[in-house]
Amino acid sequence: MGERLINEVLKHPDSALESTLRPAAFSEFTGQAKSRERLEISVEAARRRKEPLDHVLLSGPPGLGKTTLANILARAMGATLRATSGPTLEKAADLAGLLTNLEEGDVLFIDEIHRLQKTIEEYLYPAMEDFKLDIIIDQGPNARSVRLNLPRFTLIGATTRAGLLSAPLLTRFGIRERLDYYPAEQIQSILQRAAGLLRVDMDPVGALEIARRSRGTPRIANNLLRRVRDYAEVRGDGQISREIADRALGMLEIDEHGLDEMDKRILETAILKFGGGPVGVASLAVAVGEEADTIEEVYEPYLIMEGYLHRTPQGRVVTELGYRRLQIPPPTGRQGGLL
Ligand SMILES: Nc1ncnc2c1ncn2[C@@H]1O[C@H](COP(=O)(O)OP(=O)(O)OP(=O)(O)O)[C@@H](O)[C@H]1O
Ligand SMILES: [Mg+2]
Repeated sequence: MGERLINEVLKHPDSALESTLRPAAFSEFTGQAKSRERLEISVEAARRRKEPLDHVLLSGPPGLGKTTLANILARAMGATLRATSGPTLEKAADLAGLLTNLEEGDVLFIDEIHRLQKTIEEYLYPAMEDFKLDIIIDQGPNARSVRLNLPRFTLIGATTRAGLLSAPLLTRFGIRERLDYYPAEQIQSILQRAAGLLRVDMDPVGALEIARRSRGTPRIANNLLRRVRDYAEVRGDGQISREIADRALGMLEIDEHGLDEMDKRILETAILKFGGGPVGVASLAVAVGEEADTIEEVYEPYLIMEGYLHRTPQGRVVTELGYRRLQIPPPTGRQGGLL
């Protein structure tokens, strides 16, 4: 249950809720202070020079604010944002169509840019670097390449897997920012802002309780807030206190450390079936019945950040903390790859 909840929320965001709660300006965007400051300075500098913003790559796990920041950047630049995504661009002509319709200063937002096909990606290189587009017209002996001038635009790419981007693409982004999980106190502020917008009555300790169990992820926090509100209305007097939050989250099987069923299953499987590791993601994925991509994008980064799992060249290794968390005695010595 908990497992499905987290995965569902991350993979299929509630777009109505997201647009209600999405901060529209830097001033409403909580946390990620360093990235935020660097981005604000880049925007201000570009505006003063009356130039379009440099191309920006935003990376990090799902639900941390990449799309939000892309929208904030476009708005701060006074630019129109045109959005597409790697998997939607099937042919080079799809990209050419988008690029040739841009106007000076527009922002082209490509979500999941790591899923862009190689052949399409290559058209982006001259477009990003020189604002040129080489298109081939005609076929056979008449085929010839024509070079079109594009307006100066800003490409904002978002990806959960910056590691999958090719070097030529990566290096064409002048600005690269990686978003990280938010500390509980920042999620607490995000929740309090959301509660205000949704007119939910919640006390600060109630907010902190939800925050601690939201995997450092604003999207999860906002969704849990809504679930907890339902619980508070039906089982309580509508007010979200610590106790109500705790009971509601317990019912949803979100544990006290913010781990869900799948997190626990991953750790448990790595320990019981693979002696604590090292184990490759592919084997782990089969054993827990989840896609390897989902493990790498959604579950593993959090487990690593919290110190339960370690990434080594040989594979994933459960740390001593991971053993303790599951109340399984860690092996003595370095058996089982224990760190
Ligand atoms: N820093 C923040 N402050 C307040 N709310 C935030 C912040 N970051 C994200 N949110 C909230 O979380 C929701 C999800 O954020 P967003 O859609 O930007 O994530 P994402 O990184 O693009 O995720 P994905 O990888 O799945 O596309 C937003 O609708 C917004 O309400
Ligand atoms: Mg997004």
